[in-house]
Amino acid sequence: MTAIFGDAALDCFAGNYPEAAHKVEHDLRDHPLLTLDALARLGESLPAASVEYNRGDLPTGVDPESDIANGLSIGDTIRHVDSCRSWAVLKNIEQLPDYRDLLLSLLGELKPLIEAKTGAMLMPQGFIFVSSPQAVTPYHFDPEHNILLQLKGSKTMTQFPAGDPRFAPDETHEGYHTGGHRNLIWRDELAAGGTPWTLVPGEAVFVPVMAPHHVKVGPDPSISLSITWRSDWSYAEADARAFNHLLRKAGLRPRAPGRYPAQNRLKAYGWRIVRKLRKAG
Ligand SMILES: [Fe+2]
Repeated sequence: MTAIFGDAALDCFAGNYPEAAHKVEHDLRDHPLLTLDALARLGESLPAASVEYNRGDLPTGVDPESDIANGLSIGDTIRHVDSCRSWAVLKNIEQLPDYRDLLLSLLGELKPLIEAKTGAMLMPQGFIFVSSPQAVTPYHFDPEHNILLQLKGSKTMTQFPAGDPRFAPDETHEGYHTGGHRNLIWRDELAAGGTPWTLVPGEAVFVPVMAPHHVKVGPDPSISLSITWRSDWSYAEADARAFNHLLRKAGLRPRAPGRYPAQNRLKAYGWRIVRKLRKAG
């Protein structure tokens, strides 16, 4: 496959990774693995645990407990995405060899730039989002370094600063890294702190680790591909948050882990020891 990211995209990524959101161009178009039919088959091939889909006509903030099922199969949801008012994500597409090859070839173009900053590129994972017009992905955060490539239709991802407790309280981070839900509590007064990134086919946006965001699809059905990876830095940040959960339960008010380039090693090691002891116990 010829290169998907040109020199300008690579330069921009190198200057902004891992902490600053930015937009780059890509050349991933009309790939046979990414047509609606291919994706419907992919949805039917993946284990049920790797497929999540629901109604797409949701508000910006959604209670994790609410019922948002759309009543269709995943294959039909994708085939009828133009009319079924839904949102679907196919998770860990790297479980299928053809999709793993595609993911690794895309990440391979970025790997030297990634590794120069955050060390070994770990845990490559791919996610495909298929969404009806106007579908909303509620306000949430994710633990991976992420580039979202727009393939069909348009969408606007509004991102908020990572690591700022106004947008995701420390207690929420700590809950997430000890088994909690990724959805965040939305309040309308947060809106002013967001930066909207509108993507059309051929454009991609980088999302820093744990940067809160919500997404709204434009007037046409949308397909996007998320290519993600982890790093020692991202694991340490996550484990330090989990360790802080323990400290807070003990009545302390722990300081939040530092963002990159702070390494957060001490608390991360603390949590890893606790985890080992719990497994052994
Ligand atoms: Fe996300």
